[in-house]
Amino acid sequence: MSRRKPVLEAVGLSRTFTRGKAEIITAVNNVDFQLNESELVILMGPSGSGKSTLLNLLGGLDAPTDGSIIYRNPEDDSEVDIVKLDENKLTDYRRNRVGFVFQNWMLIDNLTAVENVEVPLYPSGISSRIIRSKAIALLRQMGLDDREDHFPKELSGGEQQRVALARAIITNPTFVFADEPTGNLDQDTGERIMRLLKRVCRSGTSIVVATHDIGLRRYADRFVKILDGQFQH
Ligand SMILES: Nc1ncnc2c1ncn2[C@@H]1O[C@H](COP(=O)(O)OP(=O)(O)OP(=O)(O)O)[C@@H](O)[C@H]1O
Ligand SMILES: [Mg+2]
Repeated sequence: MSRRKPVLEAVGLSRTFTRGKAEIITAVNNVDFQLNESELVILMGPSGSGKSTLLNLLGGLDAPTDGSIIYRNPEDDSEVDIVKLDENKLTDYRRNRVGFVFQNWMLIDNLTAVENVEVPLYPSGISSRIIRSKAIALLRQMGLDDREDHFPKELSGGEQQRVALARAIITNPTFVFADEPTGNLDQDTGERIMRLLKRVCRSGTSIVVATHDIGLRRYADRFVKILDGQFQH
């Protein structure tokens, strides 16, 4: 049986934290995980099970204590272990490959909705006019056409979440890591976000969504459970 090679493959991935002087917490414990092209994986687990820690590692926002994360470029089949990249190359990976939707959105308070969406493209050298038109088009897709000049504090939670999603996908990333993208949203808004993610996925992006919400399972191409930092099989 032929199987597509994963675009991202974590092998023996662990992340421990020390709390206080003596307590060691293994937030991610020897995880093996593959992510395929254009695949939407739902990562499900209770609070404290290691979901955010794992997404941060995959997105190059945090470094593991042990293990590797192989990124395979589908264009030329080249492979690189992002854990071993120097700071400049890791920044390139984050900037060019990864869209991140944070658990608490992390919008910039003193930028408007459209400016928040534009931020990841500021270092790209693309003209500000083109960046603006891309950002506005994305906000429209998200049903936020009359909200572009609002500041985050003038937006509802669901609206802020959609701005955060637009910001994550404006660079056409290879991966989107979405941490509780529907947390605290009503069901309709949550489903709208999942349908958007599904559409992004179908256009070639690989997505991992961390959630507590079992109801999101129907959107998954694959469903994995994490408990105490370990995958449950
Ligand atoms: N920077 C840190 N320092 C110490 N412990 C941490 C740190 N970050 C996470 N942890 C611990 O690691 C474990 C996993 O945390 P993580 O945030 O990954 O869980 P989670 O599954 O995302 O939970 P939630 O659903 O509540 O967001 C928890 O026990 C947490 O307290
Ligand atoms: Mg979390």
